[in-house]
Amino acid sequence: MKVLVTGGAGYIGSHTILQLLEAGHHVTAVDNLSNSQMESLLRVQKLAGRSLAFHEADITDPAALDRVFAAAGAEAVIHFAGLKAVGESVSQPLRYYRNNVTGTLNLLEAMDAHDVRTLVFSSSATVYGSNPQMPLKEDSRLGATNPYGRTKQQIEEILTDVQASDGRWRLALLRYFNPVGAHPSGQIGEDPQGPPNNLFPYVTQVAVGRRDMLNVFGGDYPTSDGTGIRDYIHVMDLAAGHLAALDYLAAREGVHTWNLGSGSGHSVLEIIRAFEKAAQTAIPYSLAERRPGDAPVSLADPTAAFRDLGWKAAETLENMCADAWRWQQNNPNGYRVEAAAS
Ligand code: NAD
Ligand code: UFG
Repeated sequence: MKVLVTGGAGYIGSHTILQLLEAGHHVTAVDNLSNSQMESLLRVQKLAGRSLAFHEADITDPAALDRVFAAAGAEAVIHFAGLKAVGESVSQPLRYYRNNVTGTLNLLEAMDAHDVRTLVFSSSATVYGSNPQMPLKEDSRLGATNPYGRTKQQIEEILTDVQASDGRWRLALLRYFNPVGAHPSGQIGEDPQGPPNNLFPYVTQVAVGRRDMLNVFGGDYPTSDGTGIRDYIHVMDLAAGHLAALDYLAAREGVHTWNLGSGSGHSVLEIIRAFEKAAQTAIPYSLAERRPGDAPVSLADPTAAFRDLGWKAAETLENMCADAWRWQQNNPNGYRVEAAAS
């Protein structure tokens, strides 16, 4: 299949493109490189032994999107492009709505104009907001609590409306839980710009000496050890979920929503211990205040993805830690070659 991937140079996009190439698909990647480096896709091509087409373009630019579609001859789209930092979305809501929502509207218009109506969308467990019902099922109550989350929820609604207006659309809404880890080669991985917002990249940067210590946000949650519990999913499993969704859509129209998570939770302290074991190094940490907006627990019910797609998360926490560490050790400054400090 000819697949157009927006945000393809990013963390999840690069791992998914590698699997698409390995499965024999033809890939066109679009990225404005606002949160990524071209180097990721150079490495993906080396690992796959196959090439892809790349367009440096912004999805908020309709004319650029039109040119990309004209060149790509795409049959399906996987849409990763988006801004994703919760805190930044609170201070810069307009930038988030323009980039994520307007960008998606442009993408849908370009798809319609070029007769491409199959789309896999990167949604997030953040759409469930502070819903305390655990585990979360696809029909659990939604209620995103910040502008980033609301862009995801609004895009889900837009996609649902578009499908209702024209039954030819084939849409998959994939609600990711906590993607972590890296390709086992250690060649591609997560490369946040500036201080990481998320737990795993922060831990790996402490381990490699880029940060002094980890702040554990909250030690007084109603959980087994008082720290927050999340459903971590290896990025290779997550990438495989996208290929499974594409296969499913090849035979079905409609809007289909799936949680992509493992169904098991780990506390922050469990992650620190597992990482220390995998990396054979101590992670200094200190208990800090709760981070505003954090839920005590977030857990997927992933049974629908298994029932419909035959997909489930297979990787262990041990592998998530070992692979994240291999990537960080091989690339202490991420994709930047010079000794960048940030
Ligand atoms: P990422 O930042 O590594 O990748 C996103 C890519 O999109 C980047 O390469 C960025 O340069 C590109 N991009 C952003 N705006 C663009 C625009 N206007 N035009 C073209 N390219 C643009 O993030 P990721 O972790 O790979 O996330 C991919 C998607 O999955 C995002 O939509 C994110 O919201 C969603 N998601 C991520 C997580 C997570 O924890 N990583 C969880 C749930 C959902
Ligand atoms: N944490 C720390 N210290 C840190 C970073 C995180 O203790 O430096 C804790 C958090 O408090 C939380 C856990 O580690 O208990 C995981 O935090 P992350 O930031 O890694 O992940 P979140 O679950 O908060 O957020 C992720 C995505 C968001 C998405 C959300 C819900 O990063 O984009 O899941 O799907 F909105």
